[in-house]
Amino acid sequence: MKNIKILWAIIVALGLIVFGAGYQLITGSTVVSSDGRTAIVLTKNERNFVLGEMRGLLGHMQQLVAAAADRDIDKTIAIAKRLNSDSQGEKQVGIIAKTPLNFKKITANIHSQFGKLYEDSVKKRDANHSLKQVSMIMQNCIACHGAYTIIEEQK
Ligand code: HEC
Repeated sequence: MKNIKILWAIIVALGLIVFGAGYQLITGSTVVSSDGRTAIVLTKNERNFVLGEMRGLLGHMQQLVAAAADRDIDKTIAIAKRLNSDSQGEKQVGIIAKTPLNFKKITANIHSQFGKLYEDSVKKRDANHSLKQVSMIMQNCIACHGAYTIIEEQK
């Protein structure tokens, strides 16, 4: 009898851990922001890191548009290559864990589109095709910014 009680206690404890991990995976560390978007709560350094990466992205998108508009396919390839290798770089696991599932999905989506942009730019050497892909990629920027904001953790 006592053993069964212990067993149940273990089952319940494990269940709570699995539930908690699943819940964390889906919601990340988030609260509702004052403007209605989902606010991801990061430390000051993590937030600064993400925003810095974002400003880098914006710069690269401008360079892509400029290169493709000039029909400079080699420059387009070079920037696409850079974006693709950056998106495969070291993963910030601590930050990723704090982001909700949908945020992770959009991130995975934009990364695979950077891969396709690079692949196609090398294969097709068609600046107009790349430019259209850039416009598609930017829909991820719009979708994510419409849904999420980042706030600094209050201690
Ligand atoms: C998966 C989500 C996501 C994607 C995709 C994304 N961003 Fe962001 N970005 C954010 C969040 C969240 C913020 C913080 C916004 C806030 O706090 O209001 C941000 C902020 C920014 C900022 C402001 C940086 C600062 O210093 O305040 C820029 C610029 C930016 N993003 C550019 C881009 C561009 C360009 C793309 C697409 C190529 C992009 N982002 C894609 C989530 C994303």
